[in-house]
Amino acid sequence: MVAEAAPTGMDPAALRAEALDLARRILATGPADPVEAVARRVPVTVLGRALGVRDLDALVAAVPPAAAVYLSGTDRPAKADAAVAVLVQLLGPGSGGSGLVVANRIAILMQACEATAALIRNAVRQASGATGRWPAEAIVAETLRFDPPVPALRRIASVTCSLGGRTIDAGTAVTLDLRAANRDPAVFADPDRFDPGRTEPSVLTFGVGRRPCPGAGHAVHLAAGTVDAILGLTEETAR
Ligand code: HEM
Repeated sequence: MVAEAAPTGMDPAALRAEALDLARRILATGPADPVEAVARRVPVTVLGRALGVRDLDALVAAVPPAAAVYLSGTDRPAKADAAVAVLVQLLGPGSGGSGLVVANRIAILMQACEATAALIRNAVRQASGATGRWPAEAIVAETLRFDPPVPALRRIASVTCSLGGRTIDAGTAVTLDLRAANRDPAVFADPDRFDPGRTEPSVLTFGVGRRPCPGAGHAVHLAAGTVDAILGLTEETAR
């Protein structure tokens, strides 16, 4: 499937190194809001480069307005349509010319970048309240549990079934509250405490079962590299 195949050609460890390097370079310019300066720009640029996009500045400008409308499911203002037209131009070359492939590349960038940007923001916010100095990977992993960037998923029951002792009729919309599941006291000790040293099993933030997120490793590495750069800057400033 196109959507699953796209992330597989990327090396997650290389994405981390690229994210760290780019974030450091942006932060070295002294932006007024360091987190906002890198949260979207770094994942979009690094993934865009991996997808073969040449004009990365245009990509960075076009993804947020398109994502703001298409991911929220609301109407399509002209601004979003104009942004999608730019994305079709940028992501068309190298896709083999298939409209389906281009559409999937655009969808991946919109979903991947918004969620990863939210993960970076949440991780920096949680790190500022954490006790001790933790590696960026530990901060990011615990943020995925404690403050997930995608807090809920929706499903429509295709058949009438039973879940947790309740009957769900076919056609019923079911919201999966990841934030609550990630704080289940039966699974996580002291679940309301942000603790980057946890060793409990993985969380539900990237989905499970037949269709989990194929870009989970990519997101974690992109976020870790970016968060690493921001925490390094914060430490430098504090010295
Ligand atoms: C923190 C960042 C991210 C989060 C929390 C996240 C989460 C998710 C979740 C929960 C799903 C399944 C949706 C559902 O079952 O309804 C999903 C699907 C998907 N994600 Fe991510 N994702 C993130 C970043 C990324 C990245 C960086 C990529 C690509 C490099 C990516 C590519 C995809 C694709 C292609 C799908 C669709 C898979 C399919 O339908 O078979 N995601 N993501």
